[in-house]
Amino acid sequence: GKGEYDHYMLKEIYEQPTSLAQAIEGRVDSDSGEINLEDFPPGTFDDVDRVQFVACGTSYHAALYGSLALNQAGIQSQALLANEYSVSAPPVDENTLVIAVTQSGETADTLSALRQAQDEGAQTVTVTNVVGSTAARVADESLLIRAGPEIGVAATKTFSSQAVMLTLLGQRISADVSGDPAFDLESVLADLENLPEQFETVLAGSSAAEIAHQYEDSRSYFFIGRGLGFPVALEGALKFKEITYEHAEGFASGELKHGPLALVTPDTPVFAVFTGTEDEKTLKNAEEAQTRGAPVIAVCPDGHPATQVADAHLEIPDADSELAGLLANVQLQLVSYHAAELLDRPIDKPRNLAKSVTVE
Ligand code: M6R
Repeated sequence: GKGEYDHYMLKEIYEQPTSLAQAIEGRVDSDSGEINLEDFPPGTFDDVDRVQFVACGTSYHAALYGSLALNQAGIQSQALLANEYSVSAPPVDENTLVIAVTQSGETADTLSALRQAQDEGAQTVTVTNVVGSTAARVADESLLIRAGPEIGVAATKTFSSQAVMLTLLGQRISADVSGDPAFDLESVLADLENLPEQFETVLAGSSAAEIAHQYEDSRSYFFIGRGLGFPVALEGALKFKEITYEHAEGFASGELKHGPLALVTPDTPVFAVFTGTEDEKTLKNAEEAQTRGAPVIAVCPDGHPATQVADAHLEIPDADSELAGLLANVQLQLVSYHAAELLDRPIDKPRNLAKSVTVE
């Protein structure tokens, strides 16, 4: 049951320190700098030269996260919407690895992209939360995120676990493909081991409820981020619209000035996610919105330059840029939750939506 929580969504947000610890348990050893991914020992991806991720919704945002991390490591990789795959898939061959990211393992769009990739000869992997799900059975191999059951229609704890598992899988892929780990492996692994505790810190000290209250009468909610902050901005907006029924949109920070800025007024708060990647540019983009009257809420560590400029602050602990976005995402999950609560929405079961979308 929901226990002490009013909604499954809140319970699942608060479960993240545990679900993340479960995800990495036995898989990460920062002392030896080793990762152990069961069916994916070193060398598994020796003959891979390109990676495609296919997914929908929140899982697509996690896929984008994983794909950007691979790109940063010099691996050719793309995150693709599974529902666009049949009309726009880039070519694949036996050296292409197609990774289906799906919490339920039952999303029709994702399954059909996976099957198409397989028919065309790609190698396939599913990253899922459900043992024995269709996607797990269809793909050549699967990797479990071990988040435990997620009841709320809005995906929360599964997003963080997907992103973490894709980061780990990305390490294995890039080590196999290029001979180099994607990042400084020992430091990433140490950061991963600290992540559950940092999630705890965010959850214990969040001012998201006050922020939600402060901006509750706004017209539209914008979320911006760059690099790994971009998928977090998209995810922040998806969560917000899904459970509050208010208009929300996520943008790459640099895109704001290419159109969306026309929408910006004092009634459009801008949540700016800072992950340590070109933060000065994102800050400039946020200031451009602020000049048009929009309140800026900076999601960043204490003492960050953005806190000098922003109208409000959602604090995250200092973390490497590979993981900072996941901490920012927790703050955004909480803002959405509290905003939906103020509006008295049926948070666990938003209208018109199903937990698992089994039609194309
Ligand atoms: O089970 P899946 O991860 O394949 O589901 C994909 C999307 O339907 C899902 O993430 C959806 O966007 C969530 N309700 C968002 O909170």
